[in-house]
Amino acid sequence: MKILVTGAGGMVGRNLLADPRAARHQILSPSRSELDLTDSVACQSLLVREKPDLIIHLAAVVGGLQAHIDAPATFLADNLAIALNLLGAARRAAIPRLINLGSSCMYPRGREGALGEDQLLSGPLEPTNEGYALAKIAAWKLTQAFGREDPGRLWRTLIPPNLYGPHDRFDAARSHLVAAAIAKIDHALRAGANEVEIWGDGTARREFLFVGDLADFVWRFHDRLEDLPETLNVGVGEDATVDDYYGAVAGVMGYRGAFRHDPRRPVGMRRKLLDVTGQTLLGWRPATSLVEGVAAAVAVYRRGPD
Ligand SMILES: NC(=O)c1ccc[n+]([C@@H]2O[C@H](COP(=O)([O-])OP(=O)(O)OC[C@H]3O[C@@H](n4cnc5c(N)ncnc54)[C@H](OP(=O)(O)O)[C@@H]3O)[C@@H](O)[C@H]2O)c1
Repeated sequence: MKILVTGAGGMVGRNLLADPRAARHQILSPSRSELDLTDSVACQSLLVREKPDLIIHLAAVVGGLQAHIDAPATFLADNLAIALNLLGAARRAAIPRLINLGSSCMYPRGREGALGEDQLLSGPLEPTNEGYALAKIAAWKLTQAFGREDPGRLWRTLIPPNLYGPHDRFDAARSHLVAAAIAKIDHALRAGANEVEIWGDGTARREFLFVGDLADFVWRFHDRLEDLPETLNVGVGEDATVDDYYGAVAGVMGYRGAFRHDPRRPVGMRRKLLDVTGQTLLGWRPATSLVEGVAAAVAVYRRGPD
């Protein structure tokens, strides 16, 4: 298959292309300097020229909590432009198969139970990343609307929870919880410090999927998109507290010092857990335990940037 992967240089893209199953295909993976997705003309000319059999659309402006608070307009405007340009060009080029990657940020805030796909657009969003969530919702709706225009078009949206693993973003401005924990604990170990700060009181709950497991899902179903519903959560189906994640990272990295909570820092949603009934019916579940996944992320982190 000829496959266009957008955002191939990011965490998800690198893990997707590192999977041995990628080598069975002709992969087009333009970098941002080769194809800026905010440029609609560039999107159209690439798709008309290359006509891939499948697009795996991963590119987005992604960041951690602080980055969303600092630059909400960028997350909204750039991600809207990326979605409209890429999906609009794919529609005009009549691309038959497309996987659009959503995010659990698309779900309403403040729900205690597991979030089923039918709960999308059923309530207010978490304000701290509203712009990003709105753009991801727009991309989901465009995927659905354009896909439905032609019965031969298999366009699907997968919605993962938070992701972690090799090639995560470890800088303070962009990191998510697990990557932040790895970077902070590494810093403490190097400095001989006996205390690591945790934002909030440590009791907020999060679901983290190992990025290699998401790559496994994509490769397992990329040629069976007719078996997938239009919109599907792909997750773990279990969550853990912020303190649990710090504990797992400390265990893998050999940190035996203390943690100090700073309840004045923002924590975002109290809980966000995906209902994974759909993926379970397909016979899929993630294979990697939290400790295995953290160990894989730490190993690449310790090798340093490449
Ligand atoms: N990370 C998570 O926890 C998480 C959770 C749920 C869903 N997702 C989704 O997973 C997808 C991939 O995320 P990721 O974690 O791999 O993020 P990432 O590491 O930040 O990668 C994002 C990729 O998109 C590219 N990109 C951004 N703006 C672009 C533009 N204007 N033109 C072309 N390329 C552009 C980036 O290129 P540069 O490197 O040049 O910036 C990068 O290669 C996103 O759709 C995200 O919403 C991520």
